[in-house]
Amino acid sequence: MTKPLFIAFEGIDGCGKTTQLERLAMRLAADKVDYVTCRAIGGSKLGDEVRKIFLHGPDMTALSELLLMSACVAQMIAEVVRPALAEGKWVLCDRWYLSSIAYQGYGKGLDIKTIDRIRKEVCQVFNPDLIVYIQAPIEVCKDRSFIRNKGKIDRFESMGLDFFQRVEKGFEVTASFFSPNIKRIDGTAPASIVARDIWNAISETPRV
Ligand code: TMP
Repeated sequence: MTKPLFIAFEGIDGCGKTTQLERLAMRLAADKVDYVTCRAIGGSKLGDEVRKIFLHGPDMTALSELLLMSACVAQMIAEVVRPALAEGKWVLCDRWYLSSIAYQGYGKGLDIKTIDRIRKEVCQVFNPDLIVYIQAPIEVCKDRSFIRNKGKIDRFESMGLDFFQRVEKGFEVTASFFSPNIKRIDGTAPASIVARDIWNAISETPRV
C-alpha cells in the first residue's frame, strides 16, 4: 500500500479552497482511494462547538484565537487524522497553521515564533505532506465570500481591507519561504484548471 497523503488547503476566505477540497475528494472517490475530510476550525464535536465561539463569539486576543484553533486541531488529530492515516486513508483538511501565521501573525501581530511553538506541540509528527495555497486577489475573494454567505458575515469576514492585505502578505511571504511542501496555486483560473494544477502538485509530492 502506498503511503496515504495528508493535504491541507489554504488561502483567504473566498479563494476557492473548499470547492477544490470537495473536487479532490470526488476524484479520489472515483479512483476508489479512501479519504477523510476535516477542517482546522471544527474537525470534531468539540471543534464544532469551538468554531461557533471562534467565528461568532466575543472579541478576543490573537493568542486566544490561536489557542482555540489549536484545541480544535489537537482534538481533530486524535479523533480523525491519526486514525485515518493509520488505516491508510488520505486526509484532506480545510486550513492549517499557515492560516494562523497569516491571520493571527500578519493580520493581528502575534509573534510567528509563538505560533510555530504551539503548532509543534499540538501536531507533533502530524503535519501535512502538502499544503495547497490557493492565491486569488482579495477583491475577488471578498465578492465570492459575500455571495456564498448571502451577505451574512462572521468576525473575520467583517474585518477591513487593510487586515486582509496583511493576511494576504502573510500567505505570500510564508508560502515563498516557510516550507518546500507549500505549493502556490493560481486561484483566478477556472475551477477545472485549478483542480488540474492541484493534481499536478499532488503527483509531485514525495510519498515516502
Ligand atoms: P473557514 O471558514 O475557512 O474554516 O475559516 C474560518 C475563519 O477562521 C477564516 O476567516 C480564517 C480564520 N482562521 C484564523 O483566523 N486562524 C486560523 O488558524 C484558522 C485555521 C482560521
